[in-house]
Amino acid sequence: MIAVEGVEKNTIRQHYQLGTAFYWLLWGPHIHHGLWSGNESSFQAQCQLTDTLADLIQVDSRDQVVDIGCGMGGSSIRLAKHRGCHVTGVTLSPIQRRWAAVTASLKGQSKRTRFIADDAERIQFSENQFDVVWSIECTEHLYDKPAFFQNAARWLRPGGRMAIAVWFEGQDTSRHDHRQQVEEVCRRFVCPSLATQDDYANWMTSAGLVVRDKIDWTDRAAKTWEICKRRVSRTGVRHIAKVLDQDQVEFLDGFDTLLEAYRSGAMQYGAIIAEKPRQ
Ligand SMILES: C[S@@+](CC[C@H](N)C(=O)[O-])C[C@H]1O[C@@H](n2cnc3c(N)ncnc32)[C@H](O)[C@@H]1O
Repeated sequence: MIAVEGVEKNTIRQHYQLGTAFYWLLWGPHIHHGLWSGNESSFQAQCQLTDTLADLIQVDSRDQVVDIGCGMGGSSIRLAKHRGCHVTGVTLSPIQRRWAAVTASLKGQSKRTRFIADDAERIQFSENQFDVVWSIECTEHLYDKPAFFQNAARWLRPGGRMAIAVWFEGQDTSRHDHRQQVEEVCRRFVCPSLATQDDYANWMTSAGLVVRDKIDWTDRAAKTWEICKRRVSRTGVRHIAKVLDQDQVEFLDGFDTLLEAYRSGAMQYGAIIAEKPRQ
């Protein structure tokens, strides 16, 4: 795992408080990579990522799902609408919570969703409360990742499933140039640390989960940042960011760093599927 100093929880919260409108302009309601098979639009590719993950853990209408780091509710609302499940979304940002709740209401999904503004590292849920723990691109922002998986495993009922999509540190952890690239990504994208897929799998196993699948989607997802780069250069987003907040400029200027990290193998994008044994 590669950790950096100086990324504060409050900076992460602020990033999403202020950045939500930028994300919406750049990406729409889903704040995550797309998963391409061909020439789909970025929105289709993002939905494809959510749907593929949902298929892998077979989300259905009987499920109580917790969506950790739910953003504007992109996944939560899609899961509720298309799978008929009930979803509790948790986000660090009160603005995102409101945004998600309003969107759910506009899409007729208020009864199946609820959104909470809280810290996933502090929030308490009951033991066995959920059938599914779901998290797309949030665990990168957590400080004590092993402790999170201990808690999340407790929230799952026996037989429950976990699906996470993650920006991973690449497999070859020995290279100094890779380390530098990952550290720059951490700083620009407000992540206290990034870890390898094996680190994550070990934390999940230590929490009592059985890892069913480890998937590398780097080649199918990296294009996201090419598209973001084009959108930033075509729109006035960067000028608005400059007026509002230097951290947002760091973020918008960091897309090449990410692309390079994927190309070099310093980073990997993918998912992990796990299950809590029935005993
Ligand atoms: C890259 S966005 C992903 C959003 C959403 N999963 C999606 O796919 O559209 C990261 C999300 O993680 C949330 N987040 C970061 N740290 C968190 C924490 N400690 N507790 C809860 N949410 C957190 C942010 O508020 C943001 O909603």
